[in-house]
Amino acid sequence: MTDKFYYPSDEVVTQASIKDYDSLYQRSICDREGFWAEQANELGWYQPWTQVLDDSKPPFYKWFVGAKCNIVHNAIDRHLKSATRNKLAIIWESERGAVRTFSYHALNREVCQFANVLKSMGVRKGDIVTLYMPQIPELVFAMLACAKIGAAHSVVYGGFSTEALAARIEDANSRVLVTADGGFRRGKPTDLKTIANEAMQRSPTIEVCICVRNNGMDVVMESERDFWYHDLQALPIASPKCDTEMMDSEDMLFILYTSGTTGKPKGLIHTHGGYSVYTSTTHRMAFDIKPDDRWWCAADPGWITGHSYMVYGPLINAATLVMYEGAPNYPYPNRWWQMVEKYGVNILYTSPTAIRGLMRYGDRWPSRHDLTSLRLLGSVGEPINPEAWRWFYEVIGGSRCPIIDTWWQTETGGFMICPLPITPLKPGSATKPFFGNEVGVVDDAGNEVPVGEEGKLVIKNPWPGMARTIFKDDARYAELYWGDYQSKGYYKAGDSAKIDSDGYIWVIGRMDEVLKVSGYRLGTAEIESALVSHRAVSEAAAIGLPHEVKGNGIHTYVILTTGLVGDKALESELKEHVAHELGRIATPETVHFVDSLPKTRSGKIMRRVLRARALGLPEGDLSTLEE
Ligand code: WTA
Repeated sequence: MTDKFYYPSDEVVTQASIKDYDSLYQRSICDREGFWAEQANELGWYQPWTQVLDDSKPPFYKWFVGAKCNIVHNAIDRHLKSATRNKLAIIWESERGAVRTFSYHALNREVCQFANVLKSMGVRKGDIVTLYMPQIPELVFAMLACAKIGAAHSVVYGGFSTEALAARIEDANSRVLVTADGGFRRGKPTDLKTIANEAMQRSPTIEVCICVRNNGMDVVMESERDFWYHDLQALPIASPKCDTEMMDSEDMLFILYTSGTTGKPKGLIHTHGGYSVYTSTTHRMAFDIKPDDRWWCAADPGWITGHSYMVYGPLINAATLVMYEGAPNYPYPNRWWQMVEKYGVNILYTSPTAIRGLMRYGDRWPSRHDLTSLRLLGSVGEPINPEAWRWFYEVIGGSRCPIIDTWWQTETGGFMICPLPITPLKPGSATKPFFGNEVGVVDDAGNEVPVGEEGKLVIKNPWPGMARTIFKDDARYAELYWGDYQSKGYYKAGDSAKIDSDGYIWVIGRMDEVLKVSGYRLGTAEIESALVSHRAVSEAAAIGLPHEVKGNGIHTYVILTTGLVGDKALESELKEHVAHELGRIATPETVHFVDSLPKTRSGKIMRRVLRARALGLPEGDLSTLEE
């Protein structure tokens, strides 16, 4: 924790739409419902709400009760009625330099066409369509097309692999899968369709698979089940006109699976009404969005950041989105800076891991480019270390651009703690709560811990962007997030944090068995179950240890099936196996072959003991240990 503030320049203050955080914050807390109603009135509704917040059955809160809407009405339809129609909605560039652009008008046509295709395939309101795609415009079209016709999407990150995809398809009981032949990464084609084929074999609920031709590689298409996207878009059924379905504000917009403490990922549910209001308000206010902004969220749509701040929030706010498919340092480490210069990007929102990765190549790569179009920078995914913060601030932002460090989660739908451009910054702190939110750092009993001490991060109130439940598991949702502080009605984030004497919040990290690896959220249990699915492994434990670029690297401990002996070849085989089952991002740094694992008497693996041993730290309280 540092006490040095970075103050906004006069220019930043002059430009800022909100010049006084404290008074608006006070108002938003004293009259939370009034504040959110005011924000909701910025959007278009088919029918207004009768109640802003229904809190009669906590923790199952409802927002904008009785209202009729559709997020696509705000993200596209509304813009077609003004000059925004001709504004660029999407600028997409691939690693190889291919460029595609879409105005709001063109975006609407693509979305309508695909919405009609989905309808013709029997997709109906309430169905869940799984999307497993590279970062290409068709992924955005498919998300919006689902929402438009009232179907929910379940986007599975294109870096995930067979088992991860199969498990998500099965849990969602999806009939339709949209995928692509593959993408490109570091000059090489990546293969999605083969993985999709394997996953469809494992979970046979898929009846229709629509495949986008993107990298042109040979793929196996099964007749009657598999269709090419471009063939369908060329059919007369794919008309560029399609009505937007009128939804209830609490109807499901999407399901997004995220890792938790068990091997089975949780499907979090977000809704049309509250999520539209929350993502657009947070995006507009925290990044002070101006009508002509070029906004680049360098996240993958497969994660919540891509949903809320690459697609929905920015489109509702009529921004121009920049999308890039590929590695940040390919063919050279100036790839991103080239993009910023070429498109005149005004706001760049990315992760500490990406910043650290690019920082390694030194200042000479960004310094070759004119980055003066940048007005604001943003960070998300994990705490940003002060060194990376300062490099981002000084070298990329030219010491002109405030860094909006946004703390939030898949569960929260949007920013919960973040500065505004006018907020004096401290590197590494996400600063203060967003409007409408009261944030606390508490002990096990729910009492505030003293200033500067570590405790559990809680949100003390409901907010419109909150996940409504875990798909098919209300009980788990209530227990996991709201069970610990039930009498107080606090939401438990699962992070530890501190609040300093200036009231600045410092998020330290996860307190559960969730790892942030390169900003991606993975569960130790998922990695362990991938390992155990290999015939050579009888038991496994995974932990995270500090990694210079990734934040955390995955280290694993494996007990082999009786009679087998571990060697280098088996170590590589197991790493490859995890990559194949779960995805490359989950590949362990190390596999240690061991004879036993530290466990509690009830048989739970004590990962903290493994972590302490690996780091050479004291092992702490071992009273429950039974190795
Ligand atoms: C971590 C990502 C510190 C945190 C949007 C949280 C952060 C988890 C920050 C959620 C930040 C996210 N500072 N930590 N600015 N942003 N985190 O669901 O541990 O992928 O609980 O959502 O990321 O990860 P998720």
